[in-house]
Amino acid sequence: MGQDLTICNETLLEFERLIESGGCNPWEGQLRTGVDLGTANIVLAVVDEHDRPVAGATYPSTVVRDGIVVDYIGALNAVTKLKDELEARLGTTLEAGACAIPPGIIEGNVRVIGNVVEGAGFRLTNVVDEPTAAASVLGITDGAVVDVGGGTTGISILKDGKVIFTGDEPTGGTHMTLVLAGFHGWSIQEAELAKRDPAQESRVFPVVKPVVEKMASIVGRYLKDYPVDQIYVVGGACCFTQFEQTFEKCLGVPVIKPAAPLLVTPLGIAVNCTQ
Ligand SMILES: Nc1ncnc2c1ncn2[C@@H]1O[C@H](COP(=O)(O)OP(=O)(O)OP(=O)(O)O)[C@@H](O)[C@H]1O
Ligand SMILES: [Mg+2]
Repeated sequence: MGQDLTICNETLLEFERLIESGGCNPWEGQLRTGVDLGTANIVLAVVDEHDRPVAGATYPSTVVRDGIVVDYIGALNAVTKLKDELEARLGTTLEAGACAIPPGIIEGNVRVIGNVVEGAGFRLTNVVDEPTAAASVLGITDGAVVDVGGGTTGISILKDGKVIFTGDEPTGGTHMTLVLAGFHGWSIQEAELAKRDPAQESRVFPVVKPVVEKMASIVGRYLKDYPVDQIYVVGGACCFTQFEQTFEKCLGVPVIKPAAPLLVTPLGIAVNCTQ
């Protein structure tokens, strides 16, 4: 049986509403912030002592490539700007902050990500790995979490609440955009916009489907060594409505996608921000 995601989905949709409306919720106890430095998006998530979403903000990223900060000053400026924006909205200072690292990243890069969070004025309380962050929002202890982001696809296998395997592969939403642009003779920007437009999914998905199948075949290779009963997909590039069924068909394992898959990891980083 897969985990019942009803409550998790309500929380994610609430967090999405907070980001879209630019509002904030009342909170109890100390606030904790999660900073997700992604290839496509930088997301800040603020939760209270009950792990309830309080506020959030996002900014398109150009400062990170596949989990590695390539523009330190740009990253610092973006995180500082988002922090200032949230503090103005909340009327208080955000102190405790956590960040996440993609699977398989080396020590030096971990320090750089931490430095961005500290440089923006947070007290860095935790550096969590992305799959652990996602798993805490999903409330799962077992199964595979596949995070299909902009630059990379992270695969993590959980057993009894522990991450027992992680892998990261250089394919993701950007790869889909390139295929779509090439197919139609579109610019990257045109392809990116069309890809994200739900109204165009019926003509977009058939073109990017081979990329999704390729992702599934990569995941399948890992599952040979670590069989699981469920696969949870998160990250922006799994937003397509046909994504789960394509994965499921290739892998023969139930595939579950939470609401607002883009926001699972960011919210999970905040949940893992200790005081
Ligand atoms: N509605 C949508 N349909 C399809 N793809 C989408 C949609 N919304 C966002 N994406 C894609 O999701 C990707 C961004 O996802 P996400 O924010 O999870 O990545 P990231 O965390 O920034 O990147 P990474 O984890 O690789 O560093 C982009 O490639 C974007 O085009
Ligand atoms: Mg990501």
